[in-house]
Amino acid sequence: MAEQTAHNKNLKAWGNDQDMKKFVDDLMGKMTLEEKIGQTVLVASYWNVTGPVSGIDYVQDARDGKIGAFLNAQTYDFIYRLQKAVVEHSRLGIPMMFGFDAIHGYKTTFPTPLAMSTSWDLEAVKSAARITAKEAAADGLNWTYAPMVDIARDPRWGRVVEGAGEDPYLGAKIAKAQVEGFQGDELSDVGTVAACVKHFAAYGAVQAGRDYNTTEVPERALRDTYLPPFKAAVDAGVATIMTAFNDLNGVPCTGNKFLLSDVLKKEWGFKGFVVTDYTSIYEMTKHGNVKDKKEAGEVAMNAGVDMDMQSDIYKNSLLKSVKEGKVPESEIDDACRRILNMKYRLGLFQDPYRYCSKKRAKKVLQNPEHFKTARSVADKSIVLLKNDQHILPLKKEVQSVALIGPLADDQLDQLGSWYTAGRKETVTTIYKGLQNKHLKATINMAKGCDFEKNDEQGFAEAIAAAKKSDVVLLAMGERQDMGGEAASRLNIEIPAIQRKLIKEVLKLNKPTVLLLHNCRPLVITWEAENIPAILDVWHLGSEAGNAIADVLFGDYNPSGKLTTTFPRYAGQVPLFYNHKNTGRPYNPEDHFTTRYQDGTNAPLFPFGYGLSYTTFKYSHLKIDKNTLADGQTLNVSVDVTNTGNYDGHEVVQLYVRDLVGSVTRPVKELKGFQKIFLKKGETKTVHLSIKPQDLAFCRLDYSWGYEAGDFKLFVGTNSQDVLETSFKLTDTKAAPYNF
Ligand code: BGC
Repeated sequence: MAEQTAHNKNLKAWGNDQDMKKFVDDLMGKMTLEEKIGQTVLVASYWNVTGPVSGIDYVQDARDGKIGAFLNAQTYDFIYRLQKAVVEHSRLGIPMMFGFDAIHGYKTTFPTPLAMSTSWDLEAVKSAARITAKEAAADGLNWTYAPMVDIARDPRWGRVVEGAGEDPYLGAKIAKAQVEGFQGDELSDVGTVAACVKHFAAYGAVQAGRDYNTTEVPERALRDTYLPPFKAAVDAGVATIMTAFNDLNGVPCTGNKFLLSDVLKKEWGFKGFVVTDYTSIYEMTKHGNVKDKKEAGEVAMNAGVDMDMQSDIYKNSLLKSVKEGKVPESEIDDACRRILNMKYRLGLFQDPYRYCSKKRAKKVLQNPEHFKTARSVADKSIVLLKNDQHILPLKKEVQSVALIGPLADDQLDQLGSWYTAGRKETVTTIYKGLQNKHLKATINMAKGCDFEKNDEQGFAEAIAAAKKSDVVLLAMGERQDMGGEAASRLNIEIPAIQRKLIKEVLKLNKPTVLLLHNCRPLVITWEAENIPAILDVWHLGSEAGNAIADVLFGDYNPSGKLTTTFPRYAGQVPLFYNHKNTGRPYNPEDHFTTRYQDGTNAPLFPFGYGLSYTTFKYSHLKIDKNTLADGQTLNVSVDVTNTGNYDGHEVVQLYVRDLVGSVTRPVKELKGFQKIFLKKGETKTVHLSIKPQDLAFCRLDYSWGYEAGDFKLFVGTNSQDVLETSFKLTDTKAAPYNF
């Protein structure tokens, strides 16, 4: 047994930083420079490849102290063997970290992150991350590459599906909930994993919505819009952070000293470690800011990148760079220390095999409770977009239902993008979900067509199914792989063949419901004009079919609200609610204003939008003072009444507008929300609040703070339908940096 593991047995309790420091000092005292560099190397095992895998013998390299962590290895027994090979045969026996993309579930698959964000339910989001961590940590893993917190405002970008939408405030709240879910109270608890917030930074701003493309985001927009979710994750104690593929204002994020050292490590005091995205150190040679791989490694390390994912550049050339004086040894020491600290905090020095237990894996990976939670999260992630003539909920006495479309009985696509360890066998399809309701109704199912293939052979069967049914359900939209990495799209409408089938079905004039499956906000203007009811069901994971059936038959009253604006025309993108006013604000009647010649600026569905089977009335918006000063809280109250025929949830949303700033300010900004439950006929007074620091932004001089002046305050059911009042923020001291 290697020297270090024997020593580890004497370790005492976890979580004491002094102990950690002493332990890591001691260990680093024994390490050669090569071994320290070895800790900064992350290599892909062959399990789940998202890019090129190097042809090296990684086990031998790990034994030689040249690798610090693996990604994409899976299963407790495989990881056990790999860990053992390293711990028992390397000189110092330093255990490996094992990372994996457990994004929205591990064996139990939850709705896609974008879908979950529409629940506006932070506890639900947290519980999904908690279960994901528990399952991953029972299967040998101790590190997940999640949450993805990139603010995304261009639906052409495939990775919209991985995040929480367009809004920095909501994005920050969700990022915090996810980090807390993955990491639990203590990283050393065996059911938790180290989280990795990604992709730092502004990846969502890729030009033209094309993946991997350039970003140009001025520092103010960066701080106001793109950084808040990262800052929230860092404040929540996120263990690691991943750089982004894109270049930002001319500097690739993986070699970006401003982002990684100045902002992240110095300004925010980030204590964890920075890992690159897949081969992104190497990709600097393509970006063209370095002449070769060696220089790429130097730029990355000097910028603050602690771990190299899969470029093999730290492994192959960093030693030479240090010897030539291109990289100070202190940078290597800092990176190595950050990584060893994390291994210590994960409890790996105490027991390198603690994440690998057959017994735990068996118990945790098949826990039916996890599926129950997945169903409840999926229920909450469905957004009712349209419901003419109260077609929904369907009556349980309905005699016959036609279920048509490529997603009618599809397991794989319900898993959603980045399902990684998820298995389609766990998925309840819509067909099965309807059957599980044990209704008397006959279900006439017909696929009708494929997702994109221009083939109408199945139309006749689908139309026949619709003809003999009282109600028609159209399970249509996108395949899971139409979103995610490298899945940008020029066409953001429902594929033509599916729309053609919809047109045929609509000719029958049956009550028809579109079950829209999507990775992004699609342009569904035609569908919204022609189909009487639309439920946005995204890709809901293992329990998709059950959740959809719950909502269709009113066992769950839909409560989701959009976290991305749905454009009316593709030509409007990027379209988001918290835009600036401009010097010629939109006025459709006035030619020389910020508008299009051939259509409106208005979205099809605004941010925050989502219907319920019941209706809510807002009244009596009140604030407890007209002026707000430093140290004070503005208390806001509003009465919400359930005026319809069903009990239901409502997300009460609070927005502000800073009327005059030293720089231009958005026309509306979300600053608070509360999800409430109201029985039919019930009224509740909802209390929300605003503090001066909630009004902070990146000011003219680039300091973070708020400014005295007049504000509008809005409360309502979405970003457009609101009640309005106003208040004044009186003279203020400079606010602390506080997102
Ligand atoms: C993606 C990351 C992911 C990594 C590891 C990359 O291609 O951009 O989001 O975590 O692969 O699988």
